[in-house]
Amino acid sequence: MPRRTLRVPPDQDLVVFGATGDLARRKLLPALYELSIQGLLPRRGEVVGTATRELDDAGFRAFAHDAVAEFARTGIDEDAFATFAKRLRYVPAVTDPGPKLARVLRLPRRIVYLAVPPSSFAPILQQLKESGLSRGSSIIIEKPFGHDLSSARQLNQALHRNVPEERIYRIDHYLGKETVQNLLVFRFGNTLVERIWNRDVVSHVQLTVAEDIGVENRGHLYEETGALRDIMQNHLFQLLALTCMSPPSSFDPEALRDEKVKVLQSIRPVAPTEVVRGQYTRGSVNGKMMPGYRELDGVSPDSTTETYIALRLAVDSWDWAGVPFYLRCGKALVTRRTEIMLFCRDVPLHLFEGTGIEALQPNRVTIRIQPDEGISFSFVAKEPGPVVVEQGVRMDFSYGQSFRTEPAEAYERLLHDALLGDHTLFIRQDETEYAWKALQPVLDDMPAIKLYSAGSEGPPEAQNLMLTGSWHTLGHHSQD
Ligand code: BG6
Repeated sequence: MPRRTLRVPPDQDLVVFGATGDLARRKLLPALYELSIQGLLPRRGEVVGTATRELDDAGFRAFAHDAVAEFARTGIDEDAFATFAKRLRYVPAVTDPGPKLARVLRLPRRIVYLAVPPSSFAPILQQLKESGLSRGSSIIIEKPFGHDLSSARQLNQALHRNVPEERIYRIDHYLGKETVQNLLVFRFGNTLVERIWNRDVVSHVQLTVAEDIGVENRGHLYEETGALRDIMQNHLFQLLALTCMSPPSSFDPEALRDEKVKVLQSIRPVAPTEVVRGQYTRGSVNGKMMPGYRELDGVSPDSTTETYIALRLAVDSWDWAGVPFYLRCGKALVTRRTEIMLFCRDVPLHLFEGTGIEALQPNRVTIRIQPDEGISFSFVAKEPGPVVVEQGVRMDFSYGQSFRTEPAEAYERLLHDALLGDHTLFIRQDETEYAWKALQPVLDDMPAIKLYSAGSEGPPEAQNLMLTGSWHTLGHHSQD
C-alpha cells in the first residue's frame, strides 16, 4: 500500500471490453488519460477498446475525446490528449473479437478489463482462451462478484479455469479512495489511535454509505441488484474489514488481505431479524421532487427490491467481541455521506453529578470518507464561566485544509496498481466469498420492504436495530 515513488508499469497492452459503456466513458478513459499525463502508463503498450458498437480507431478516439473532455479530473488539454490518443485502438466485437485482438496485441504481457455485465464474463474468457490470449493476460473485473455465495463460487471457478488468482484484479472502487487508504495510516501510524481501537473503549460502531441520488435511469439493472448487493456486500463490508482488521505483519498485499479475510470470516452470519430493508417513494431531495423507485422505467410497479438496507452484526474476534456494528446504505436519502463513527464507552463514574450536568456525551471518532473528507474527535469540555457547564466540542482534521492538492480519482490509483501488478487494493477470492457467506441468511429469507420518502433518513424501523443509542442523524452535518 505505501508508495514512496511512483513507478512506470512494465510494457503491456490494455484491452477494455465494454469500451463504449458508461464505466469506460465516465471513469476508465478519463483515468487512463490522467495517468498518461503523469507519465504513469507503460512506455510501450496499446489501449485497445472493444465493444459491440461499429467504430474504427478514429471513431473510438473521438469517443474517448468526448469522455475525457466531460469527465477528466483536470479537464482536457488537447496536446496531452493527442499523445494519449496515439495508444488508442478499437476492435468491434460484433462477433468473436478474439482473432482480431490477437493481431492487434503484440506485447507478451497484457491486462484485460471486463467492463461488461457479469453474464458476458464467461463467453469473453472463452474467446480469449481460444485465440491464445489468456496466456500472459491478467483480468480486471468489476463487482458484483456473483449475486450470492454459490454464484460467487461459480464465477471464481470460471475465472480460475482461465486465469490463476494471482492474475485476477477484483475492483471495489472504494479501496481506491484516498480517505479509505488513510484509514490504515490513521489506525496503524498513531499510538493513541491504536490504544483506543477495540472493545475496551468502543461501545458501538456505525458505518454509513448514504446517497442523495436515486436509481435514476438504472432501474432495469437495479431491479436485479438492490442495496445489499450493490453496496453492503462490497463497499460497506470492505470498510468494516479495514476498520476491524489487526495490524498486518507488513504491507505486503497478501499479508494485508489475510487480515481483512480474518475479519470477514469472523462476521457472525447476519440474522434476517437484524435487518431492515427499505424502498423510497416519491419525495423531495434537496428541494427537487424525485419520483418513487417503483415509478422508474424498468422497475416493476410492485417491486420488492431494496434501495436501502440497515443491519446489525457482530464480529467475533478478540478485539471486537461484544461490540455491535451497525451498517446502512441507501439511495435518495436526505444527504450524501459516507462515514465511519466509533462511539466510545461512557466514563466509569459520573463525577459531575449534582453540578447540573445530566449526562456526558461519550467520545466519538468520525472518519468522513466523503464528502468534506476528514477525521474528527468529539469530547466534552467545560464551558467558560463560574459554574460547571459541559459542552461537546470537536477536534477536526480536514483534507481540504491540511493538504491543498487534489486527490487522484479512485480509478487512477487502481488502474495504475493493476498495471504494476500490485494486488493490495483488490479483492481476493476468499474475501468476496466470506462476505457473501455472512449475508447468505438474509438473501435466503429477505425481510419485507419498508417504505421511506425520498429525501428522508430512511425507514424509521431502522431505529429498532439499535441496542443502545440511535443512528447518527444524516440530516445533521457529520461534525455535529
Ligand atoms: C457503485 C454503485 O459501486 O458505487 C452505485 O454501484 C453507487 O450504485 C456508487 O452510486 C457510489 O460510489 P461513490 O464513489 O459515489 O460513493
